[in-house]
Parts: sequence; C-alpha cells; structure tokens
Amino acid sequence: MQVIETISKLRLVVQGWKRQGLTVAFVPTMGNLHQGHLSLVDVAKQKADKVVCSVFVNPLQFGPDEDFDRYPRTFEADKKLLSEQGADLLFFPSVQEVYPHGTAQQTLVKVLASLTENLEGAVRPGHFDGVSTVVLKLFNMVQPDCAVFGQKDYQQLRVIKMMVEDLSLPIKIIAAPIARDKNGLALSSRNQYLSAEQRQIAPKLQVVLQDIAAALQSGNRDFFALCEVAQQRLLREGFDQVDYIEICQPKTLQKSTDFDQEFVILGVARLGTTRLLDNILI
Ligand code: PAJ
Repeated sequence: MQVIETISKLRLVVQGWKRQGLTVAFVPTMGNLHQGHLSLVDVAKQKADKVVCSVFVNPLQFGPDEDFDRYPRTFEADKKLLSEQGADLLFFPSVQEVYPHGTAQQTLVKVLASLTENLEGAVRPGHFDGVSTVVLKLFNMVQPDCAVFGQKDYQQLRVIKMMVEDLSLPIKIIAAPIARDKNGLALSSRNQYLSAEQRQIAPKLQVVLQDIAAALQSGNRDFFALCEVAQQRLLREGFDQVDYIEICQPKTLQKSTDFDQEFVILGVARLGTTRLLDNILI
C-alpha cells in the first residue's frame, strides 16, 4: 500500500490507474480505525479495481467546544490495518495541504436546513457544512468513481448523497451496513471509553431500536409513544441520558407520517460522557 501526503502525487497515481482503465473506490475516514471502518474497505474492494482510503481529521467539522485537538491520532496502527485489509493507497494529507488558505475558506458547501435541522445537525451547528466541504474537496483530490460511507452515520450519508445529486458530481455513493459487535453494539471508536459495566448496558440501544422496528412492522403508527417508551426504557436500563429517539423518513429525515412505508429509526444515548449512535432502516 502506498502512503501519499500531497494532492499532486495522489493525482499522478490515480491518473495512471485510470489510463489503464481501472476503476477507483474511495473510503474517507478520520483515522483511529476499527473493524467498522475496515468493513467499508471490504465493500470498496468489491466495487472497484483500486481502493483509496484517506485519514484526515477535518478541523472544519468540529465545533469550538468539540474535541478536534483531542481526537485520537493513531496513524501507524491505521496504516497497518489498512494495508492488511488490502487498500491500495492511503492518502494522509496535512491540514495545510487540504486548507492552504487556512480553514477560513472563502468558499464552502452549505447544506440547507431541511436535512440538517434535526438529529445530529440540531446539536452540532455547522458540522455538516464542514463535512460536506471536506468531502467535496477530497472527492476533487481523489476523483474516484465511487465512494463508500457507513450507514452508522445515517444523516451524514444522506447529506453526502444529496450533495452529490445537487452538485451533479460524477461519483456513485455506496452505503455500507453498520458493522456490529457480537452483542449487537454498533462499532465505534468511542466504545473504547466504556467501562465493563457500561459495556453490558450499551447493546440495549440496539435492542430498543429493534423493538420499535418490530412495532412499526406490525402496523403501530403511534410514533410519539413508541419513541417516548423507548427513551424511558433506556434510562431504566442504565443509560445516563437519551439525546433523541426519532422515527424519520429515510430520504428527507423529516419526522414520519402515517402514510409512510419506509422508516429510519435513529437513537443517541449517553453512558457517562460517551455518546452512542445507532439506527435501523426498515
Ligand atoms: P469517521 O468517523 O472516521 O468515519 C469514517 C466512515 O466510517 C464513515 O462513513 C462512517 O459512517 C463509517 N463507520 C464508522 N463506524 C462504522 C460502523 N460501525 N459500521 C459501518 N461504518 C462505520 O465520518 C467521518 O469519519 C468524517 O465525517 C468524514 C466522512 C471522513 C469526513 O471528515
């Protein structure tokens, strides 16, 4: 696996592949990789001849009170994992390479409210503008045929799909299923902060979302009560706080109505200061 830090070298390699008629899949990450990220590499390998991964902790998507400086940077371990997983190229640019004029760029991708006013967007103002801006920049640097994003960050996946459609980008966005522990807990780098006791409680988030899915599938449309009961149950099970449990339309992320046939059930709950995210699409 090649490790490349500059846009010019990256472009040379990718252009060389394209001249040979090879297709390129791209997996953007912020590093500190776990099996969830690596499952995206597996999906990417099935979709194209060559797989490019990026490791870049993007300052633009962190709020002033968020943990940009403390975000775990584990480059050597990430490099080893990606190489073992069969990635062809690891793009590891500096902040200066990605933002040559600093992060106060004059041009940004602005995501309008309807997709981002709820859920994660509601608690992280500006976050999805930062994500969309860096993803568009990375797309322009790598110029892949397709890019893989995890369903784990469902709102992010929808925002990126919408950006690709709105800006007519020639890139296919592929959604990869949520990689889970044996006990059902969605894999996340934050899981490492859980105590032994919290690890017993954490998988209940998935169980509660599954129960809402079962209720919806058997025709229950009392969305408010389903979410309310789920929240109370999570608190009884030992979660310290429930940020939200919501049932939404999978495409628009607006709250579901009685006429909908498809649903995404999203939940965020906290154990201590650790925020756990999960969702189910039905
Ligand atoms: P990061 O949090 O590093 O996640 C990179 C990718 O891994 C995302 O597409 C995320 O949805 C996916 N992922 C994480 N855990 C997963 C799991 N358990 N199962 C499946 N996929 C999982 O998301 C970002 O970085 C950044 O916002 C980024 C898109 C790189 C832009 O900076």
